[in-house]
Amino acid sequence: MRLHFTRDWTPTGASDPLPLPRVQGNVWFGSKDKTMAARKIIIDTDPGQDDAVAILLALASPEDVTVLGITAVAGNVPLPLTEMNARIVCELAGKPETRVFAGCDAPLVRKLVTAEHVHGKTGLDGPQMDAPTMALQAQHGVDFIIDTLRSHAAGTVTLCPLGPLTNIATAFTKAPDIIEKVQEIVLMGGAYFQVGNITPAAEFNIYVDPEAAKIVFDAGVPLVVMPLDVTHQALTTQPRVDAFRAMGTKVGDMVAAWTNFFERFDKEKYGSEGAPLHDPCVIAYLIQPDLFTGRHVNVEIETVSELTLGMTVADWWRVTDRAPNAMFMGGLDADGFFALLADRLARL
Ligand code: BDR
Ligand code: CA
Repeated sequence: MRLHFTRDWTPTGASDPLPLPRVQGNVWFGSKDKTMAARKIIIDTDPGQDDAVAILLALASPEDVTVLGITAVAGNVPLPLTEMNARIVCELAGKPETRVFAGCDAPLVRKLVTAEHVHGKTGLDGPQMDAPTMALQAQHGVDFIIDTLRSHAAGTVTLCPLGPLTNIATAFTKAPDIIEKVQEIVLMGGAYFQVGNITPAAEFNIYVDPEAAKIVFDAGVPLVVMPLDVTHQALTTQPRVDAFRAMGTKVGDMVAAWTNFFERFDKEKYGSEGAPLHDPCVIAYLIQPDLFTGRHVNVEIETVSELTLGMTVADWWRVTDRAPNAMFMGGLDADGFFALLADRLARL
């Protein structure tokens, strides 16, 4: 039995919003009401080439998402670089009016772990980029998240974390009243079948700040998770990279060059024909949820074990009676995803 969910699907609350699957059910397919207005979002990010592509996809898709602001967090590289990279990307998109805020510069309780081995020293290594001229907003990113949620009607702002969850967890801790105002969190992080990419057991975003991830996963907010299980299907094969370059635009060239840069590392690591384009899956879900399938399951974050720190313990087979707290995605229409990307990025 195949079940469908829509944007109105609300996974929190006392009971499952959908009946539990019978035999092979339990696979949910996203769908979208085309008459819905653009969804208001805050992108919380640590660019990162794949974060950069996600930001470009969002800024190219005003009919689907309104970017209220971008909050930078320390992750792939330290905060001074992630906030600058976010501004570089907004300028590349021709949207210097986008508001970019600097958030937290370190995880809640741990020392920052970065990923220059994947993204290069700047986080956006590859093509030469000019320093941005647009200003960084003076307000702290966490306060921007709090103020934005407080000043909007409940259920009208979606958070899109693409990096460690430090900013979101800090906002929830500082202002618990905003938690019930969040429409949904759609995040990239975690893994179940693909296990880990920074340790054998953990995905990078969750591993960097597991305490923050625990706060977010336990908050009771409607949660959609794009784990490695999905993003490892979003591979930048040669024809897909060629399609970016064939756009003949600055954005197309840049995305192709970024992809070539981080492919060096990932192709060798995974032995795959391309690198996973992780973070754009989050934005693609908001635009075309039917590209994804997943299960509404319980996901707990490991914060204690040395061996499995940051693991997302997803009850994929529903072998416990722990309450489902996340739509954990597992399937992707990869060709559809890259077609969407090429179509939207060509607009910039
Ligand atoms: C995640 O880690 C980062 O390196 C990427 O930007 C992505 O958000 C993948 O594990
Ligand atoms: Ca990221």
